[in-house]
Parts: sequence; C-alpha cells; structure tokens
Amino acid sequence: MKTGIIGGGAWGATLAQLIIDNNHEALVYDVNLNIVNKINNENKHPFFDVTLPKSLKATNSLKELINYQEMIILAIPTKVMRSVLKDINKLLTKKTYFIDVSKGLEPETYKRMSDLVKEEINPKYNGGYAVLTGPSHAEEVILRKLTLLTAASEDENLAKLIQEIMSNDTYMRVYTSNDVIGCEVGGASKNAISVVSGMLTGAGMGENARAALITRGILEILRIVEFYGGKKETAFGLTGIGDLMVTASSENSRNFRAGKKLAEGKTLEEIYRDEPQTIEGIRSIEALTRLSEEENISLPIITTAYKVIFDNMDMEEALSSILKRQLKAEEIK
Ligand SMILES: NC(=O)c1ccc[n+]([C@@H]2O[C@H](COP(=O)([O-])OP(=O)(O)OC[C@H]3O[C@@H](n4cnc5c(N)ncnc54)[C@H](O)[C@@H]3O)[C@@H](O)[C@H]2O)c1
Repeated sequence: MKTGIIGGGAWGATLAQLIIDNNHEALVYDVNLNIVNKINNENKHPFFDVTLPKSLKATNSLKELINYQEMIILAIPTKVMRSVLKDINKLLTKKTYFIDVSKGLEPETYKRMSDLVKEEINPKYNGGYAVLTGPSHAEEVILRKLTLLTAASEDENLAKLIQEIMSNDTYMRVYTSNDVIGCEVGGASKNAISVVSGMLTGAGMGENARAALITRGILEILRIVEFYGGKKETAFGLTGIGDLMVTASSENSRNFRAGKKLAEGKTLEEIYRDEPQTIEGIRSIEALTRLSEEENISLPIITTAYKVIFDNMDMEEALSSILKRQLKAEEIK
C-alpha cells in the first residue's frame, strides 16, 4: 500500500521506515526543506543518527503526496492540523483513509483529531478514520526496538488493515480497538501528566513522587476519557497507562524535558526556543484546564500544573495546595 505521511519529523519519518520495513511504500511530506533534502539526498534525518531505507522519499509538495497516496498518515503538531486538513481537502480526488498519529486536542475547541477530519474532509473523499497510538518513543522505533501500539477505528476492517500494515515479527506488534475516543483522549492527556512528571523531577523529587503521580494521573486521564465518551478500560491499556509510563519517566520525552526545565526556572519562551520539535503536553494542560473549569471535571494535578506554568504559582505552593486538600479514601474513579 502507498502511504502518504504528512509530517516528516521524528514520528512521521520513523513510521515511514516501519512501513518500508514491512514491504509497503511510503512518501513523506514536510514544509521543512532541510528534512526533505536530507532524506532525498543522503538517506538521513536531521533528528536521528541512522541511515534510512533508500526507497524512502520525501517531498515538500502536498499535491505530489496527495496524488501518490492510497492512505494518509497525519504526523504533524495538532495546532496546525485543521489548516493542513483544509489544504488536503482542496487537493483530494479519491476516497482516502486518514490515520492520525498526532497526540493532542485542538487547543481552542478541545476537539479530537477525528472531529477535525470529519469537519474538514469532504465526506465524498473520507474513506475512514483510525488512530494509531501507544507507548512509542520515535528514538527507539527508529532503531527497531520492540514496541506495541493500538490501532483504533469504528471500522473494524480499517483497524485490521492498519494492524497488518504496521505489525512485523521483529519489533512491532499492533492491537486493534474500536474505542477511537479513548485512544485519542488517552494520548492527548498523558502528555499533560508527563510534563508534570518532568516538573517533579526538576524540583528534586524522587521515584516515590513519580509513582504516585503516574497512579493518580491515570485517574485524571480516566475522568477525561469518560467525559468524552470513551471506554474506561482503554485508560488502563497501551494508550493510557502504557503511554503514560513511557513518557512520564524518560528524558526521551520532550514533554518530560519541558516540565523539568520549567521547574529549573526556564520560561516557556526559552523552552520553545531550545526545543523546536513539537511539545504537545503544555498545550494539553491549557486545554484540559479550561475543560475542567467549564465542565467541572476534577483534575487537580493538571489544573495545578497550569497555575505553575501560566499563573506564576511557585512549585512549593502548588504542592502544598494539592497536599492540603481534604484527606480521603483511595478510590479508583
Ligand atoms: N516523537 C515521538 O516519539 C512520537 C510518538 C508518537 C506520537 N507522536 C506525536 O506525533 C506528532 C508529531 O510529533 P513529532 O515528534 O514527529 O514532532 P516533530 O516536531 O519532530 O515533527 C513534526 C513535523 O511536522 C512538520 N510540520 C509542521 N507544520 C507543518 C505543516 N503545516 N505541514 C507539513 N508539515 C508540518 C514539521 O516541519 C516537523 O517536521 C505529535 O502530535 C506527537 O505527540 C510523537
């Protein structure tokens, strides 16, 4: 199958390599000419020290990609998703599958990427939607290290198709699911908790605090998933607890690193300047805090992190405000 990947950054390029490893074809589209040229001229990528498969090609022409593809993978920052979908829609001439791998909500509307695809793609050309997500650092997958993902779609056949294309018997195993909402929302909200995990580490706290954060954080993810109408059990699968564990405990996670730098006193401007690659978690904290206030969803960890990042609350005060809350029984809900 010819797969057109929108976004040739860390994750898009890595998935392109996986697809070629699995004997399918891939073309990557990116607005960054440095990425496009490096792939085409050197079989290299600016973010990785690896040689990419020779058959992997890139383009900065969206039209070329749209004409080429039989399936589109969306691997761009969620903040540009709607405008890119509008551009794609203008160029489509055939029914196309849309596979989202970006993890976040639209910042202003808190909408999921599947909502954006529904709203922006002419139904005549929308052949179906799936989300492919789970615990996956591109830095490991590009080195073909063992990884498990979930492909979720309301169309069981599409979920199975993605499973077949992406799985192999050396390093990638993909499960299917029909809980699109749970998978999308789990992926978006775990990034927020992962920023907080970095903040705790940056503030000098240890593994006890991190284990507590992951455990209590998954309950916030659960509440968000349930609010959107996803399945509770999805939060305990690869796309919830699995993804949270990998991003909340690793320097490989940009969200974790951003939180750590915040606690060490860097400003948001400095963090975005030093880390040009996509950091979804801080925007997720903003969106989920507004959602929590508007919809009265209890998210004490995420909303307190918001106060530290955007309202200048200091870390000690933030921690104390969480610890001062009424003592209660441990409940999983
Ligand atoms: N890196 C990972 O390990 C990983 C794993 C799973 C999911 N994700 C998700 O994938 C998404 C992308 O992450 P990434 O790590 O690849 O980020 P990245 O910053 O490395 O890559 C994003 C790419 O999108 C390109 N881009 C930006 N605007 C564009 C536009 N308008 N048109 C075309 N291309 C555009 C950028 O030039 C960049 O190359 C994020 O939502 C992230 O949460 C990342």
